[in-house]
Amino acid sequence: MKPILAPSLLAADFANLQRDVEMLNRSEADWLHVDIMDGMFVPNISFGLPVCQAIHRHAQKPLDVHLMIVQPERYLAAFRAAGAAHLTVHLEACPHLHSVIQQIKELGCRAGVAVNPHTPVSLLDDILADIDLVNLMSVNPGFGGQSFIEHTYTKVRQLKAMIRERKLDVLIEIDGGVNGETAPRLLEAGADVLVAGSYVFAAPDPAVVIAKLKRP
Ligand code: DX5
Ligand code: ZN
Repeated sequence: MKPILAPSLLAADFANLQRDVEMLNRSEADWLHVDIMDGMFVPNISFGLPVCQAIHRHAQKPLDVHLMIVQPERYLAAFRAAGAAHLTVHLEACPHLHSVIQQIKELGCRAGVAVNPHTPVSLLDDILADIDLVNLMSVNPGFGGQSFIEHTYTKVRQLKAMIRERKLDVLIEIDGGVNGETAPRLLEAGADVLVAGSYVFAAPDPAVVIAKLKRP
């Protein structure tokens, strides 16, 4: 099966966002991955609601919004209004994760949970049946262009087994260090969605790289 491809706009040219979003509209990308960082949960600040809204104005594909922020429940409705189709929150940022997931669903978004590289997938056991997507971070969140953490392959296999065993319909998304070398191995391990930032946008023709990632 072809992977779902979600280029990360974190690596786009922020001075030419409309141009880059329109390029993704014309490409074989499936979703647009939107990374929100608050300088608290992660040691970096990316962009916020007005930029998400501006991306949405030009995007013809679903916005896959990855909230790397503390207390994400404070901003769920605002990101929904700014165009989010999917809202992913970090397990590590949510002491009341079940409640946050219910709030995301009530807003009409697909609900995702992201886990940092050190967080075992077994901690997802009691939320898995309630969500649409798991974002397995394959780098420490906060920056694009980092190198892929090899242990992720093991986590993909473990999570895939949990999902299959319970016959659930949950997508496994990999975020960080996805490139021409890691992508086929991730798909073989059981990944469904690939997020790719620097690998796509550093290419002379990002649409060609996107097409290649769709056919590993
Ligand atoms: C990292 C972000 C990623 C990032 C991936 O914290 O969540 O989505 O954009 O960037 P690359 O593909 O460059 O590793
Ligand atoms: Zn991300």
